[in-house]
Amino acid sequence: MKEEIKEQFNFIDKIKSINEGKNLKYNIFTMGCQLNENDSEKIAGMLEKMGYTVTNNVNQADIAIFNTCCVRENAEDKLFGKIGEMKKLKERNGTIIAIGGCMMQEKHIVEKLHNSYPYVDIIFGTHTMHKLPEDIFKVLENRRKVEDIINIDGEIYEGLPIKRTDNSKASVTIMYGCNNFCTYCIVPYVRGRERSRKKEDILNEIKQLAEEGYKEITLLGQNVNSYNGGENYGFAELLRDVNKIDKIEKIRFISPHPKDFSIDVINAIKDCEKVSKIIHLPLQSGSSNVLKKMNRHYTKEQYLELVEKMKKLIPNVVFSTDIIVGFPEETEEDFKDTLDVVKKVEFEQVFMFIYSRRVGTPADRMENQIPEEIKHERFNRLKELVESQIESNNKKYIGTIQKILVEGKSKNNSNMLTGRTDSNKVVVFEGNDELINTTINVKILSQHMWYLKGEIIDS
Ligand code: SAH
Ligand code: SF4
Ligand code: F3S
Repeated sequence: MKEEIKEQFNFIDKIKSINEGKNLKYNIFTMGCQLNENDSEKIAGMLEKMGYTVTNNVNQADIAIFNTCCVRENAEDKLFGKIGEMKKLKERNGTIIAIGGCMMQEKHIVEKLHNSYPYVDIIFGTHTMHKLPEDIFKVLENRRKVEDIINIDGEIYEGLPIKRTDNSKASVTIMYGCNNFCTYCIVPYVRGRERSRKKEDILNEIKQLAEEGYKEITLLGQNVNSYNGGENYGFAELLRDVNKIDKIEKIRFISPHPKDFSIDVINAIKDCEKVSKIIHLPLQSGSSNVLKKMNRHYTKEQYLELVEKMKKLIPNVVFSTDIIVGFPEETEEDFKDTLDVVKKVEFEQVFMFIYSRRVGTPADRMENQIPEEIKHERFNRLKELVESQIESNNKKYIGTIQKILVEGKSKNNSNMLTGRTDSNKVVVFEGNDELINTTINVKILSQHMWYLKGEIIDS
């Protein structure tokens, strides 16, 4: 373990003795992607070691953490709304307020926090999250504000404590940062350049998860198929090694980049029986013109060829995707190309986004920004197409038998259990709690747009 982390464990011990017997609580509000959720699990791990226990009610928290995202604008409004609400709580209870994550790597946001929200105690960035114990100690000891942000790429710190939110599935970050600089995207600016974890660290973490009873692993990174584990060891090799780990039953990964989908990775997906056969393949736009302006390094035709190649090589493969509508200069023709790709690929799931201008990105400086009403109109047309496809696709599941890892009780109906098909569709069914974290066969009876209903059958 690195010296910096040992030092943080010392701060954790000091805080633990300060907090002794006080029954203090923490609350974490997480925005953004699964990488941020995984970071929040590490933050929770550190806080638990300091003697805090979790509460879902921020009003009862002694320390409130906000782990932020800045990939689209609506996240900003949401955060400032939440921080505004914290003022009264701070005055009443003296709650420690700490804000971290991607948004804190943006200068104008930190300035706004300084100017308008002076009661915030700690501001930390994406490269300094591991120093949260030290930051909290400074606040507890000196009652002084702490700002801990660096703009150089952070190192990879192994050995942080972690408290996971699930008992059957776990996320494992395999790489940090991104080198792609898609022209609309803020992520490379706030997460820094690509850094891959050592393969041994990843494999050991997964082996330990398997021992703890986890059955499903999701490998995370902004561009997982450019994972670099050293000479002749890339994402394909990693998939093959994870596939060999006993007791792990399912392996998923997000997100790969279409431009980096090598034949080795395709073959690894095909050969590894535990690797899910739903591939998240972010399209962003179906127009070659727009893709060029987005700096995506593939054309509409190349994307479709890749899909065809995978369909040919990987039996039963299906796809999900991300799409942005209303990128600057997007014409009606460009948008129709997007609809065309959606029609051709028949995605299982499409995450649809309205283009959002991000300060500092090249697309924000492009002249012909698309008016809001056109963006919304296109978004609605895409949504209509996607929903009609999903509905007809869901019908294909009715009558089939799906192997499902039971994840827990259904959130909307605690009398029902829930899990997902290999293709990531949520399925709900009646069953005994003892089945949680086991794999069972479920016959699909009906479809309801965002989930399927089924009944357990004997295997
Ligand atoms: N690295 C991943 C995910 C990046 S963020 C990838 O490349 O696929 C998740 C999604 O947010 C992106 O795929 C994109 O569809 C969307 N997104 C990113 N920046 C955006 C912006 N400025 N406006 C709207 N959507 C955006
Ligand atoms: Fe953003 Fe593109 Fe990197 Fe994904 S690959 S994080 S969209 S810059
Ligand atoms: Fe958002 Fe940061 Fe993830 S900007 S999408 S939380 S990497």
